[in-house]
Amino acid sequence: MKKLLLVVSLWAAASALTLVGAQDAKPPNLAPYFPTPPAVVKAMIELGELKPGELLYDLGSGDGRIVIMAAQAFGARAVGFEIDQKLVYQSRERIEKRKLGALASIEERDLMAADFSKPDLITVYLLPSSNDKIQPLLEDQVKPGARVVSHDFTFRGWEIAKEIVVEDPTDEEIPTHKLFLYRR
Ligand SMILES: C[S@@+](CC[C@H](N)C(=O)[O-])C[C@H]1O[C@@H](n2cnc3c(N)ncnc32)[C@H](O)[C@@H]1O
Repeated sequence: MKKLLLVVSLWAAASALTLVGAQDAKPPNLAPYFPTPPAVVKAMIELGELKPGELLYDLGSGDGRIVIMAAQAFGARAVGFEIDQKLVYQSRERIEKRKLGALASIEERDLMAADFSKPDLITVYLLPSSNDKIQPLLEDQVKPGARVVSHDFTFRGWEIAKEIVVEDPTDEEIPTHKLFLYRR
């Protein structure tokens, strides 16, 4: 947990400096890069009941691991939204290397501008304040039958359809991860 707190504190300081120097409107940085462990990625997708051919959006897709697993192991179409160019390139390379281009892609843009009416499953690993920011967009746009799975942080006032804890004994700092399923 100390590692996560350190990453979030450094990220908050860097984001504040960026804001002070900002000349033009940059996309909001809604969370630092902190990857979800593979076992937790699998649990997120399973909790979200993703079926072959369905569409998954990962909001802030990092190195593309959720998008890649959704396409490779679940036969779903998957799109990641990411503003960090290095991570965009890295995830696109990983998709290409696995020959998943027909199913998986990464868009280099602000996740807040995504069309949330399209996906069947939305995965989120952001911060509580970021969940607050995207919540009204999701409430307006997410289609009936779609699901949202959030890693570690809830959406205020939404009814949790299912909550699970995933153990990750390989990580001493963060051995447990909470996942929340929401249904529209
Ligand atoms: C905690 S990481 C989660 C990465 C990945 N979803 C996972 O679970 O492994 C959050 C990611 O969101 C990205 N991000 C932050 N603000 C964003 C924005 N406005 N639009 C798109 N991506 C954003 C960060 O660059 C970072 O890679």
